[in-house]
Amino acid sequence: SCNDTVTKGEEDLEMSTVDVKDASFSPPQAFFSLSFLEKLDLSWNQLTSLPADFSASLSALRELRLEHNCLPECLCPPVSFEYLDNMEKLDLSHNQLVSVGPGVFRGLSRLRQLYLHHNRLRVVQQGSLDMLPGLEVLHLSHNNISQIDSSALAPLYSLAVLALEGNNLHHLKFKTFISLHTTATHIQLSGNPWSCDCELHRVFSKILYVRHLHIDDYRNVTCQDPPQLAGASLAWVDSQLCIAETATVLVITITVLVTVVAALVMAERNRKRNHGKNWDTESQNQTQSS
Ligand SMILES: *[C@@H]1O[C@H](CO)[C@@H](O)[C@H](O)[C@H]1NC(C)=O
Ligand SMILES: *[C@@H]1O[C@H](CO)[C@@H](O)[C@H](O)[C@H]1NC(C)=O
Repeated sequence: SCNDTVTKGEEDLEMSTVDVKDASFSPPQAFFSLSFLEKLDLSWNQLTSLPADFSASLSALRELRLEHNCLPECLCPPVSFEYLDNMEKLDLSHNQLVSVGPGVFRGLSRLRQLYLHHNRLRVVQQGSLDMLPGLEVLHLSHNNISQIDSSALAPLYSLAVLALEGNNLHHLKFKTFISLHTTATHIQLSGNPWSCDCELHRVFSKILYVRHLHIDDYRNVTCQDPPQLAGASLAWVDSQLCIAETATVLVITITVLVTVVAALVMAERNRKRNHGKNWDTESQNQTQSS
């Protein structure tokens, strides 16, 4: 909790690493002469905000650890990481983030790992993950995400791991995932309150069919709705989810078939009758002319 003081023991302190505990500083002045710094560990403190320009004097930074702090609901401009263009790993997990404003991660062109798990994020917004071409690992698990904008993931060309377990997802759009133009992406989706219906079954089937997308924990994806399927694995019930729809399609098909057959029979009958009439007329004509 953000009211408790939690201090972790000293860890291996490298030449280029600064490990700040119980931080009470006012950046950027605090980091004024730290332009050589490659690793900065500010985890397990009680930071409630980041100064807008804190990144200006930290341009050599490759790793920034801010997990287990009290970073507030909105990580929004003017806060940005724009000068951290050498950064490869950013850990913002275990904070209080509810939203991340567009452009906050702009400038992190070398970022490979982004940890945002155990926050309270609600939506993965379009534009929030733009300009992260090197991002390989994105941890969004254990948030409150109920919506992923359909093109929010599209800019992540290198994404290999997308962790979304333990969120608030009821439904998914296939478009969201097919927009990932990667060579291989492993996705985790269990621990969400899935509404298991024919549509969800269809979306998962399509994702499973795409060669470069892998749902690692598909066997553990369980339904919350409808109540009679609560707790059941989607993989086990999926063939039943479309039964109602299949039955409807079957009834329609049979109806159409019966109608067509009936129409054919009627047509054949009419043809025979007309043929008979013509025959009669013809034979009458022949009789008259002879
Ligand atoms: C999760 O998000 C919903 C809206 O999507 C909100 O009503 C609810 O309060 C949130 N829960 C938490 C724990 O933040
Ligand atoms: C599925 O859940 C079980 C029990 O929680 C866990 O032991 C197992 O590792 C999970 N499997 C996958 C593929 O996530």
